[in-house]
Amino acid sequence: MARLSVLALLALSLFSVSHATPLGSQETLAVQEPPVHTTEGWSWSDCGLSTDPIQIESIDVSPDPPKPGQNMTVTVKASAVETVEEGAYADVTVKLGLIKLLQKQFDLCEEARNADTTVKCPVDKGSYEVVQTVELPKEIPKAKFSVDVRAYTYDDEDLFCVNLKVDFMKKFPLKFGW
Ligand SMILES: *[C@@H]1O[C@H](CO)[C@@H](O)[C@H](O)[C@H]1NC(C)=O
Repeated sequence: MARLSVLALLALSLFSVSHATPLGSQETLAVQEPPVHTTEGWSWSDCGLSTDPIQIESIDVSPDPPKPGQNMTVTVKASAVETVEEGAYADVTVKLGLIKLLQKQFDLCEEARNADTTVKCPVDKGSYEVVQTVELPKEIPKAKFSVDVRAYTYDDEDLFCVNLKVDFMKKFPLKFGW
């Protein structure tokens, strides 16, 4: 469920972003972590610990880079080292540049239930691959977004941690036939 939720949250965040009103709150400090996994228009980094119950193995996006107005398919591979119980949650922060657009807490098990998936809490130990497609709004601003996901167990222990950056500002190379 947790890996599903990551995609769901990413998709949700991107979607929310396009509809969100900027709060106007300025970040005073921008901590730049070196992206561990980078492609042309987006990157993700695992900010969790090796002791976290959920270990994110990979996040893939298709098409790569994602394009506003088109479907984006996200594939997340992760393993649950421990059972994930009901009550797990995630704090998600979406920023446009340094401006905080959205800060929200999600019930991960509920998100998993609401999504069309077979993965349900409690989630047993094991490896999971979750694929989810979302239609990106056309009106995503040409800007750099960051999505920070901090997930916790029901009793507030670290569950997993992922930082995503998507750069819609980049001039993506025109594809053949365009
Ligand atoms: C995205 O996928 C859905 C379901 O397959 C489809 O109905 C929709 O037309 C697609 N949207 C775009 C922009 O390709």
